[in-house]
Amino acid sequence: MGTFISFEGPDGAGKTSVMNAIQQWLEDRVGADQLLLTREPGGNRISEQIRDVLFDDQNTNMDPRTEALLFAAARRQHIVEDIEPALRAGKIVLSDRYVDSSVAYQGGGRHLGADDIWELNQFAIHGLLPDLTIYLDIESSLGLRRISEHRSDQVNRLDREQLHFHQEVRRAYLTLAKRHPNRIVTVDASQPLAKVITATQRVIEKRLPQLK
Ligand code: TYD
Repeated sequence: MGTFISFEGPDGAGKTSVMNAIQQWLEDRVGADQLLLTREPGGNRISEQIRDVLFDDQNTNMDPRTEALLFAAARRQHIVEDIEPALRAGKIVLSDRYVDSSVAYQGGGRHLGADDIWELNQFAIHGLLPDLTIYLDIESSLGLRRISEHRSDQVNRLDREQLHFHQEVRRAYLTLAKRHPNRIVTVDASQPLAKVITATQRVIEKRLPQLK
C-alpha cells in the first residue's frame, strides 16, 4: 500500500502554492510515476461534473444538506476511481482537500454540525482516512486578505462568504486537529511561504523517513 496525504486549510492559507512545491520536492525523490496529485471535489469525470454543479454561480438556491451530500458523493467516486487504485499501486497520493474539508465547511461554516457531517462521510469514505493530513492554519481575517490580494479574479461562490463563515471553518478545523492528533499535523500558514514549505517537508519526512 502507498501513502495517503491530504492537505487542508481555509481559503487563503496558500495551500495551492505549498502543494505545488511539495509535489516538485517529492517528484525529485520518488519520481513522478510514484506520485498522484489530485483534488476535491474532482479528480475524475464524474466528480468533476459534481464539482461543476457545486460551483455553478446560478445554483444560489442550493440547500446546505444537498451541498454536503454532493461533496460526499464526489469524494466516494474520487476514492474508488483515483485514490484507492494509486494506493494499491504503492504510490504517494497528495489530495488537495478530503473529508476534513466537509466537516469544516459544511459542518462548521454551514452549521450542519461537525459530528453529523463526519457521520455522513463515513458512508462515503468507508474507512479510508489519510495516513497524514497537513492542516495549514491561518487566522481568518489574514486568510481573507490574502484571497482579495492574490486571486480576486478567481474567487468562487464559496469564497464569497463572509468573515464569520471563515471563522467557523477555522474553528471546526482546530477542533478536528485536536481530535485526531496522530493524523492531523497543524502548520502555521501565516509564516512566509518558504517557511511553510520547509515545515511541511519536515512533517512529511517524519512520516516517510525513506525520503531523507
Ligand atoms: P477550490 O477552488 O478547489 O480551491 P481551494 O481548495 O484552493 O480553496 O475550492 C474548493 C472549495 O470547496 C473551497 O472553498 C472549500 C470547498 N469545499 C467544501 O466546502 N467542502 C468540501 O468537502 C470540499 C472538498 C471543498
